[in-house]
Amino acid sequence: MKLVAFSAGKPKGNCEIFVKEALMAAEAKGVEVEFIRLPDCDLHNCRSCVQGQCPASKDPTKCPYGKDDAIWLMEKFLDSDGYIVAAPAYSLSPNSLLFAFRDRVFGPKMDVGMVLTGKRPAPEWAKGRFKARPGGLIGVGGAGTEHWTSLNVPNLFTTTFSAQTEIVDTLNVYGVADKFAAAIEDEWLAKAHKLGENVADAMLTGDHRWRGEQEGSCPFCHQNLIQVVPGTTDVICPICGILGTIKIEDGKVAFDWPDDEEHRKDNRLELRGKVTHMLEIVDIVENKYKPNLDLIMEKAKKWHEYTACEQTPPSKMKK
Ligand SMILES: Cc1cc2nc3c(=O)[nH]c(=O)nc-3n(C[C@H](O)[C@H](O)[C@H](O)COP(=O)(O)O)c2cc1C
Repeated sequence: MKLVAFSAGKPKGNCEIFVKEALMAAEAKGVEVEFIRLPDCDLHNCRSCVQGQCPASKDPTKCPYGKDDAIWLMEKFLDSDGYIVAAPAYSLSPNSLLFAFRDRVFGPKMDVGMVLTGKRPAPEWAKGRFKARPGGLIGVGGAGTEHWTSLNVPNLFTTTFSAQTEIVDTLNVYGVADKFAAAIEDEWLAKAHKLGENVADAMLTGDHRWRGEQEGSCPFCHQNLIQVVPGTTDVICPICGILGTIKIEDGKVAFDWPDDEEHRKDNRLELRGKVTHMLEIVDIVENKYKPNLDLIMEKAKKWHEYTACEQTPPSKMKK
């Protein structure tokens, strides 16, 4: 059983301290642990090759940036049995390094929905390594108020969808800004320790149910980021995609999350949400894009040929 942890924070910084505390706890439970510092990696942003033609899906070495460390990171993930990721909050959200990691390592090529439901064979490079893994998420913010970190953990969930990483605990640290300051934060360190134990227990037992402290407004991701549809009582969890309704009960806000296909079919924390999404994309490509290809190419010229406003960055100027 191997637990791999990725930190997008500064080398030796606060994310790293909390992640290593979680790893120490997991190691004490008897799992093997690995720690990867994302800022040490050579990692380019995804170039977004034309949709549906990501060359990495068939062969990751065919990615235009295939010579950087993304394939190594992908292999580290595929060879693991558990996952922890941490990122510092930059303007409420994870830093850009975390997003480069997400898009290069996960994304459509790592989408296990069709494979694990038997609708499509696994790509050769995955070599039977597509499986549900338990995981933990750690966000670290420097602001003294939690709302300055509001989009950090929710965005860390976006690294878990395609590969079916099943989050059993999350930690949203705030008020820890300065160099190595995490080292004196005993309460947060205790929570990080518990998160490490929770991920290890889930790995060792195969029981990937939620083990975190926070119940949350959503019964799946256990977060409190709920979208309300104006003029209705309808609500959506923007992380999972499940539908529900909002009400006032004993003077307090409460939610109903019906357990039926209509309300749950988009749940991307489950395999069915990924399959729903994959089928809708196939439908758009087959029934809207392909029949209109000539028209699209013709109409797109209007914007493609409007070039007088385009600016060239210095790095692309001919010397
Ligand atoms: C560009 C930038 C933006 C930041 N924005 C936020 C923010 O919106 N909310 C917050 O709580 N902390 C913010 N911080 C503080 C960091 O999240 C905090 O210092 C964190 O402990 C850094 O983690 P590290 O030591 O692992 O890199 C920001 C820091 C930087 C450099």
